[in-house]
Order: sequence, then structure tokens, then C-alpha cells
Amino acid sequence: MSLAGPRLTAIGSGKGGTGKTFIALALAQAFADLGERVLLCDADLGLSNTSVHLGLSTSGDLPGYIAGRTPLKAATAAVETEGHAKFDLLAAPAGTGLLADADNATVERLAQLLRHAPYYERVIVDLGAGIGDAVTSLAANADDVVTVMTPDPTALTDAYAFIKLVLKRTGGRVPGVVVNMAATAAEAKRTADALTASARSFLKATPAYLGFVPSDMRVVEALRRQTSLWLACPKSPALSAVMGLTGLLGGQPTRVAATGSMR
Ligand SMILES: Nc1ncnc2c1ncn2[C@@H]1O[C@H](COP(=O)(O)OP(=O)(O)O)[C@@H](O)[C@H]1O
Ligand SMILES: [Mg+2]
Repeated sequence: MSLAGPRLTAIGSGKGGTGKTFIALALAQAFADLGERVLLCDADLGLSNTSVHLGLSTSGDLPGYIAGRTPLKAATAAVETEGHAKFDLLAAPAGTGLLADADNATVERLAQLLRHAPYYERVIVDLGAGIGDAVTSLAANADDVVTVMTPDPTALTDAYAFIKLVLKRTGGRVPGVVVNMAATAAEAKRTADALTASARSFLKATPAYLGFVPSDMRVVEALRRQTSLWLACPKSPALSAVMGLTGLLGGQPTRVAATGSMR
């Protein structure tokens, strides 16, 4: 972690519907529960919907923050779930598409603002779908880039395209891979292996396999019912799997969740 700012962990995939928002959200809660001061930024600039996932009525004022009208503290919405640590959400109001056509300069400004965000120790960035300029420039500014893919065959080509772009843009930093919605560990491993094989032969790069998140219908049900998965199903295997990813992303399970923790 750099002393100057938070550790930026970006979640992308190239493809929509792979579970980026779910994993970003679950990672934000997991790092908060480990004692980190966490900001979750919904940078799915056209289709911001994290607040819908959370059943929140507010999602913050990301457009105002980028424009310099709203200070960070006022631009965030607190996410508080009983029995869990709080984290903050920075998003555009859901359904407004307010940042859908943000230009490069705007996205670069957002990246710099997040890199130097005061107070927070971790910023999770939900990159949204696509491999456009917004996605790649935010990914290029991150400390960790996580590619979320599923066993779906089309996810392979999209994950490959995403990794290729990040490599090119960063001059060789290889994103890690998480396989989401896997039926079994073996299926997840096969999925990751297929990506690794393509990346090795065509990109001369080996993405690290960070782990998998099992397919869990309760993830879908909780979203449909607008209830918190942490309350509806605290033992969800998908949630435990995401918690298991934190270690490889610099989370420290032994760290004491305390006020005035080291910075
Ligand atoms: N591990 C999982 N098991 C089952 N359903 C999942 C899982 N992860 C995500 N989903 C569901 O898949 C859909 C797409 O997830 P979402 O996080 O919105 O994807 P993205 O942000 O990549 O478009 C949602 O209905 C979500 O609840
Ligand atoms: Mg999403």
C-alpha cells in the first residue's frame, strides 16, 4: 500500500453480467470487516446500479465530486449492515446515466481523485462492462486489477480482450483472474486455465488465478428481493469465497478492526 493514498482495487471483465458489481460489493464489505476504511466507487459510468444491488435509496453524487462541486464526504452514501463494518459508496444516482459520455479528461480526473482520496485505505472500483477508454484508464491507475469471468464461453474472449488492453495500457502489468458463478472448483480451474493458456501463447503473460466464487442462487434472490445478502444468508458460500479473495489482494485477516489504526 502506498503511503500517499489508498490501495486501489479495480474489478473489470470486458463483459456485462459476470458479477463484477456483486464481487465489488462483497469485497468492499469484506475489506471493511477486516478493519480497512473502504470506499466503493461505482465507475460503471453509464449504468450505475450498485445502490440497486444494495436496496439503497441514495447512492451519492459522483458527478458532483468529479466536477469539484461536492466534497468527497458529502458525495458518498454510507452502507451499513447490521453486524458488519460500515463502508462508503460513491456512485452516480442509479438510472440517470449522468456520466455515460464522460470524456477522457473526466475519467482521468476521477482516477487521480481516487488515487489520492483522503481517509480511505482501500478504494474498490467497479469498472463496469466494456473495454473503452474509461475502463482502461481507471484500470491503469489501480494497484490491483481483477478480471471477473464466468465459465460461459463468451466470457473467455471478453476476459482475454480486457487483459490484453490492460497489459497494453500499463506496459505489462497482468491482471489477476477470478472465476465467478462456477458450479465446482474443477470447472473454475478449467475456465481459468483456458484463459491462462491463451494469455501465455498470444500475450506472453500469465494472469494469476486468484480464486473462484461459486454459483449461488441466493445472490440472485437477494438482489431480486432487494434484501441484503449479508442478512438474508450470512453463510452464503459466495460471500465466504469473496472473503477468501482478500488475502491475495493485500487484506490482512489478523489486523485489528480499531479506530486510530495505522495508516
Ligand atoms: N456467484 C453468483 N452466483 C449466482 N448469481 C450471481 C453470482 N454473482 C452474480 N450473480 C448474479 O448475476 C447477475 C449479474 O451480476 P452483476 O454483479 O450485476 O454483474 P455485472 O456487474 O458484471 O454486470 C445478478 O443477478 C447477480 O445477482
Ligand atoms: Mg455491474
